[in-house]
Amino acid sequence: MADQLADGGAVRSRSTSRPPVLDKGRVTRSEAVVPIRHRQRLRATPRYDILTDVKISTHRATTTQGYDTKSVDRTVPVRDVHLERAFASVPKYFANGDIVMSHMFAVLSATFPDGESYFVRSVAGVQDRINDETLASNIEGFIGQESMHGREHRAFNARLAELGYPTRAIERYTDRAYRLLERVGTSRIHLAVTAALEHYTATLAEMLLTDPDARGVFEHDAVRRLFVWHALEEAEHKAVAFDTYRHVGGSERMRRLAMTAVDLDFLLELVAMTAVSVSLDPVARRHPLRTLRSAALLMRSPFASAKAAR
Ligand SMILES: [Fe+2]
Ligand SMILES: [Fe+2]
Repeated sequence: MADQLADGGAVRSRSTSRPPVLDKGRVTRSEAVVPIRHRQRLRATPRYDILTDVKISTHRATTTQGYDTKSVDRTVPVRDVHLERAFASVPKYFANGDIVMSHMFAVLSATFPDGESYFVRSVAGVQDRINDETLASNIEGFIGQESMHGREHRAFNARLAELGYPTRAIERYTDRAYRLLERVGTSRIHLAVTAALEHYTATLAEMLLTDPDARGVFEHDAVRRLFVWHALEEAEHKAVAFDTYRHVGGSERMRRLAMTAVDLDFLLELVAMTAVSVSLDPVARRHPLRTLRSAALLMRSPFASAKAAR
């Protein structure tokens, strides 16, 4: 397992890892997306084997690195994960050959990097107002984790663009939408929106981590590792944006309003973008029956269940 991961340029397990060779003076292209103050910390972070060094739970992730349970509850570690090279072999319909499911996850992935940049900006924007040591540390971890997710999903999106998915257009749209929101909203509104969207990512994460059928959608090894690693870290930091919002005096009323707005927007945009993405796919257009069957399968999948919508 560790060899496979290393071969993908991904992560190394503790038992086989050598200390990563780091050139402290040079910033690699992939590191350039990580905020400068986090790069040193990232470089000092040991590499993990996602599936052997981390025990997955829906409420927290504990590591086998020797932390005691209490401190692990409060830790949001940053893992240096590289999957870019392994994405080169991702096939067009990476979700078990299913057209609509593949398009839906391509759309989700395309919204992640710029969405996560917005989350980072929202939380980093109030960092100087945090006087709780634990929360300050968790915010550092949150920023590091989201920056890593953005970097790896952007690499995955580049592969999807090669395969014909409109991921570049969706990335541009997502970035513009969040930049527009930033022009009009206050820091508390951005934190409320971030906390609401983190609720969605945590719900999806819980499903992927606890339901083998949901995980089974990702047939390709690198895609499965990308989503499982992302899910694990979403579960780890799911409370950070909410805690930050409460810490800076955000009200319950504004949080509920943001949740309602995000509820509507998230589902509408996901459905609309997936429909557009499928309609642009020549294979889907040439095989309408296969596409309709695929849409029906999605409606019966764990991702369209009541659990996913809560
Ligand atoms: Fe994330
Ligand atoms: Fe997150």
